[in-house]
Amino acid sequence: GGTMRVYWNDDWHFSEGFTQTMVTGESHLTHEFKPVRLPHSVVETPFNYFSEHIYQKVSCYKKIFNAPSHWQGQAVLLTFEGVAHEAMVYVNGQHAITHQGGYSAFTVDISPFLNFNTQNMLVVKVDSRESLNIPPFGYVVDYMTYGGIYRDVYIEVKEPCHISDAFIYAKEILTPSKSMVVALTLSKAKQDESLRVRTILLDESDREVLHDERALSTLTTDSQGTYTFQLPLPEVKLWDVEEPYLYRCSIELSGETHEHVFDTQIIKVGFREAVFGADGFKLNGKPLKIRGLNRHQSYPYVGYAMPKRPQQLDAQLMKVELGLNAVRTSHYPQSKDFIEACDALGLLVFTELPGWQHIGDEAWQSVAVQMVSEMVTQYRNHPSIVLWGVRINESKDHDDFYQKTNQVARALDPSRQTGGVRCIKNSHLLEDVYTYNDFSHNGKTKGIDRKKTVTSEKDKGYLVTEYNGHMFPTKPFDTEAHRTEHALRHATVLDAIAGDDEVSGGFGWCLFDYNTHQDFGSGDRICYHGVLDMFRNPKSAAAVYSSQSDIRPVLKLSSDMAIGDFPEGGIGNVYAFSNADHIKLYKNDAYVKTFLPNKARFPHLPHAPFIIDDFIGELMEKHEGFSHQMSEDIKSVLMAVSNYGQTNLPLKFKLKVIKLMLFNGMTFQKAEKLFYDYVGNWGGKATEYRLDAIQNGEVVKSIYKKPMQSFKLQITVDETQLKETKSYDVSTIRIMAINELDEHLAYFQDVVTFETEGAIALIGPKQVAMLGGGCGTYVKTIGMAGKGTLTIKCRDIIEKVEYNIEL
Ligand code: GAL
Repeated sequence: GGTMRVYWNDDWHFSEGFTQTMVTGESHLTHEFKPVRLPHSVVETPFNYFSEHIYQKVSCYKKIFNAPSHWQGQAVLLTFEGVAHEAMVYVNGQHAITHQGGYSAFTVDISPFLNFNTQNMLVVKVDSRESLNIPPFGYVVDYMTYGGIYRDVYIEVKEPCHISDAFIYAKEILTPSKSMVVALTLSKAKQDESLRVRTILLDESDREVLHDERALSTLTTDSQGTYTFQLPLPEVKLWDVEEPYLYRCSIELSGETHEHVFDTQIIKVGFREAVFGADGFKLNGKPLKIRGLNRHQSYPYVGYAMPKRPQQLDAQLMKVELGLNAVRTSHYPQSKDFIEACDALGLLVFTELPGWQHIGDEAWQSVAVQMVSEMVTQYRNHPSIVLWGVRINESKDHDDFYQKTNQVARALDPSRQTGGVRCIKNSHLLEDVYTYNDFSHNGKTKGIDRKKTVTSEKDKGYLVTEYNGHMFPTKPFDTEAHRTEHALRHATVLDAIAGDDEVSGGFGWCLFDYNTHQDFGSGDRICYHGVLDMFRNPKSAAAVYSSQSDIRPVLKLSSDMAIGDFPEGGIGNVYAFSNADHIKLYKNDAYVKTFLPNKARFPHLPHAPFIIDDFIGELMEKHEGFSHQMSEDIKSVLMAVSNYGQTNLPLKFKLKVIKLMLFNGMTFQKAEKLFYDYVGNWGGKATEYRLDAIQNGEVVKSIYKKPMQSFKLQITVDETQLKETKSYDVSTIRIMAINELDEHLAYFQDVVTFETEGAIALIGPKQVAMLGGGCGTYVKTIGMAGKGTLTIKCRDIIEKVEYNIEL
């Protein structure tokens, strides 16, 4: 019959060390083993300041299981979705498979090693040392490469004759002759002449839109033994970023009469055409500017080992909170849970083989080629993936090697283009798309280089795969001026990309801060390159992205308007990130001025940031009885004093001061009074501001900038109804310190404590410090149904999160 996938994420035993006797020895577990569930990390890591050596070891996972007698004569397929970084699998003391590479899955038929109707012992020796001669190792790497069986493990019991792989893709999907190609690979077992294949395509309401049946004997196979056939498609809904419509295709392998079904595979299918060309990227024939960020797959404390829900949350954050349309899975293929969420949400994916700058020897390279083949085979049914990265990120040209990686990707997937991320100009383009890390922007220069200065390949697609990152590391607890500059750099590059038709789009570096090796980061093993912190709390730069989409009203001010945080009390330019038509500014409840998006500085962005450079507006004209010209002159001087400080006033403002003194009777005392009254300064009473975002004539969002009076916790919980499906479930809790008006308190650093009760357990420490007014935690289910409570305490605040857990 059909095939059931049974997850084997429970009842494992783990030893931090490994000895050969663990493989061959008795089935009972020695004292060094402790019970664990998958996904699992070989060590729990601190938040920062720890050595990358702590996760590098040879460890051992054991599982005792029963092989029921009806497995006899069947293929018993054991799949590991991800083991970092080398796995040696033994069943009952016999070596079943060795797999190298921590970022792709592997499957082994363990039936030859089984003892039926009795206990069996599965042992996995896991090597997470970076001395392995495989990608990404061999030199330095800017991210931690945590070890363990950190993704799902499952078992499928199938007939010896089954479908080992099914690939479905669309051809000419935008034309009347559109069709669907099905490429089937069957297991090596003896193939019966009378086998039949039934292909059924179902829409989201389970209606059959296509039904095909054919005898396998009528099909030809290629040199790999893959059967390929093409089915004309009726009108189908396309998959795109706005409406990611997914069909389900069931492929059934049976005998002549269908009475005997050998295997059924169900594959989600999205029909779309994705093309990178000289004139940019087109999805289903329509131009689409790619606006994305790079994502690592790491989390605080558990490294790579997170189950489905937190993986899905990252995709959700990107698509919904940040309004992005794309992600680059830097620098390796990522969890299926994440990619499936991208399929479902309509988030385009650029994925690539593992690696970082370094190319190793021939043995290393052949593992890399193998990794390309695994990546393409394992991920090619995902409609969200629009490009394969087939070069080691930022490596040098190496034509022999990259001819192979391109050839492998193209042979396994005729439907997608290849790219390969480089940081060098004019490198040999063996791929279809020149994918380039453009770090040219330094805060002063223009956002990106022109394509023609990077490559002479005029006719090929061009995509910016990284920008910013190390050019301006930014901690959540950096000064406001620093955090604002970080946001502006993202806005500047985004604007340049938006304005250049030769550029398909860009991926900023990066989504969130990440733990890294000693050779990188801020000395504490963190690269503070994210627009979010490690717990996925937003920095100022996040609002640059979220304000580009129209999903919901966004209004964020770059400043808390606390003049004491600036030299000489000069706040400098203040920016608002908003998707509104205009913004109205009020000062101590009096209307000051209406601002428009600053199209002069950001001409190309869908929603240009606003520059709030006038806190006086018409107030002075109204209240002091000055002429318009005089009040404009005074205003510009006062704002300049606020921005530059009195002693650093640029010449043009000094001249204005002289003019005002000579012709308008201005004196120093009068000017000082005006400054206190209209700008406010050290020694004056703090000013209170309100900003209204106006959309179609209506206030859609207001924010208040006033001195804080009281402190609150903003606790964002992804989900309180938890359920154990494939494994334990994890809820993400993001915490921000805010004031009574919901404004972030950027320098809040107090201790926060967590306690759990009932059917949940905490991941990570019970006590953390807020960093830059943000922190977070995770709770996991523990195999028990019922209720669970997380208590969060900070100062005199006690908040409870109540969970319901289903098994
Ligand atoms: C790039 C690299 C990324 C990251 C980034 C920081 O060179 O590809 O992995 O290190 O720099 O800006």
